[in-house]
Amino acid sequence: MKHLLIIFHSQSGNTERLVQAACEGAGEERAAVETRVLRAADAGVAELLWADAVLFGTPENFGFMSGALKDFFDRTYYLARGRIRKLPYAVLVSAGNDGTGAVRQIERIARGYPLQKVAEPVIATHGVTEEMRAADPEGFRVAVTEAQLVQARELGQTLAAGLACGIF
Ligand SMILES: Cc1cc2nc3c(=O)[nH]c(=O)nc-3n(C[C@H](O)[C@H](O)[C@H](O)COP(=O)(O)O)c2cc1C
Repeated sequence: MKHLLIIFHSQSGNTERLVQAACEGAGEERAAVETRVLRAADAGVAELLWADAVLFGTPENFGFMSGALKDFFDRTYYLARGRIRKLPYAVLVSAGNDGTGAVRQIERIARGYPLQKVAEPVIATHGVTEEMRAADPEGFRVAVTEAQLVQARELGQTLAAGLACGIF
C-alpha cells in the first residue's frame, strides 16, 4: 500500500470542500493507495514520514499560505531534514481573487525542504468581496464551483494514480 497525505487549513470551509473532493478522487485508487486527511495543526513529522506523497491545501491569506500551514512547515523542517528525500507534492489553493502568492511560497519552501512538485497547482478563486460577505454572510461562506471541485478531484486522483503506478 502507498500512502497519500493531505494536509490542509480552512477557515471558512472552501479549502476543506476542495480537499474533500481531492480525497474522493484519490479514493479511486483505494485498492493501492491509503489516503489520510489532516488539518495542518494536527499534522507533524510522523505523518510526513508515513507519506509517499503529500497534497497541501490552503487558503491564500494576505498574499501568503495560511498561518497554520506555514506553522506546519516551521515545526517540521528540522525534524524532517535528512529523513525525507524529494517527497512528491502538489498544492490546492482557495483564494478570493489571486492565490499565486500562496503557491509561490510553498514552491519556494519545497525547494529547500526538499519536496518535489509532481502536478500543477489547482487555484480556485471565487471573487467574493467583503461587501458581498457582509450583505449575506451565510450565502457567501462557501464559494466553490462544481468545476473547481472537479479540478480538485482530478488532482487527488492524479496523485493517487501516480503512486499506484509507481510513477513517483
Ligand atoms: C485574513 C484573510 C486574508 C485574505 N487574503 C487574501 C489574499 O491575499 N488573496 C486572495 O485572493 N484572497 C484572500 N482572502 C480570501 C480567502 O483566500 C478566500 O475567502 C478563501 O476561499 C478562504 O478559504 P477557506 O474558506 O478555506 O478559509 C483572504 C481571506 C482572509 C480571511
